[in-house]
Amino acid sequence: MRISPQVGRKFGVIVEDFDAEKASEADVAELKKAIYTEKIAVLKNQDLSPQEFLALGRRLGRPAEYYEPVYHHPEVKEVFVSSNVKETDGSQIGVPKTGKFWHSDYQFMERPFDITLIYPQVVPSKNRGTYFINMATAYENLSEELKLAVKGLTATHSVLRYFKIRPTDVYRPISEIINDVNAKTPPVTSPITFTHPRTGETVLYISEGFTVSAQDANGNSRPDLLAELNAATGQLDDTYQHENIHLQTFEKGDLLLWDNRSLIHRALHNPSPEPAVSYRVTVYDDEETAA
Ligand SMILES: [Fe+2]
Repeated sequence: MRISPQVGRKFGVIVEDFDAEKASEADVAELKKAIYTEKIAVLKNQDLSPQEFLALGRRLGRPAEYYEPVYHHPEVKEVFVSSNVKETDGSQIGVPKTGKFWHSDYQFMERPFDITLIYPQVVPSKNRGTYFINMATAYENLSEELKLAVKGLTATHSVLRYFKIRPTDVYRPISEIINDVNAKTPPVTSPITFTHPRTGETVLYISEGFTVSAQDANGNSRPDLLAELNAATGQLDDTYQHENIHLQTFEKGDLLLWDNRSLIHRALHNPSPEPAVSYRVTVYDDEETAA
């Protein structure tokens, strides 16, 4: 296994000669360390079945099944499928156009995932990739004034704004759907910053997609401050030229792993109808389940 920095990129490493099946404990430990400190690791030349992909996830932690079954791979339910390709019988496996907004995975739940693994299966010829912002660096880059302003604040996160209407929701009243979403995934509130347990960094825990409000210790909502933080961190820059934004491209055979605690991301979708399919496994790393 060889780990080297991504040349000319803001962060991330390239990992060559990683054998997902035969990797030693020491290799897996080194890989996890790279994910926490370098934020993105791109494993090159991978050729894994959905079962083998899940097995790799198990080396890194405890895989979590997505709460909405419509995203599940039909054979391996822990594999989340993002796809705009119809099956030959016209059916849809997985969900098209996922994640085209700034977020971290499961930020609207009590506990977001620790590590995300993405394994593109059908790679479009252009406009492929994912934008990332490291919210530990973004916090560091805040003005002293903003750092002071976020002290003691909490932020509330909800999936509602980007919840995808399912085929079974068609013709249902929207108020009923909203009530269902709020009952199943009620908004969660947490401190607006936290200390990364693996690196000690302070992470600003907000995203334009899932964070619906920020409030001070007296419960006063601060929409002005939330908007200012979204702008300062680069999330409102629709040219994607902000210094915090990193575009991670990939090619067939690449498998991306990232530190979902500190990164927020946003899918770059191809405006043309080119086929795109990717598999995702997400894990919690508190219970070491390496075989
Ligand atoms: Fe995502």
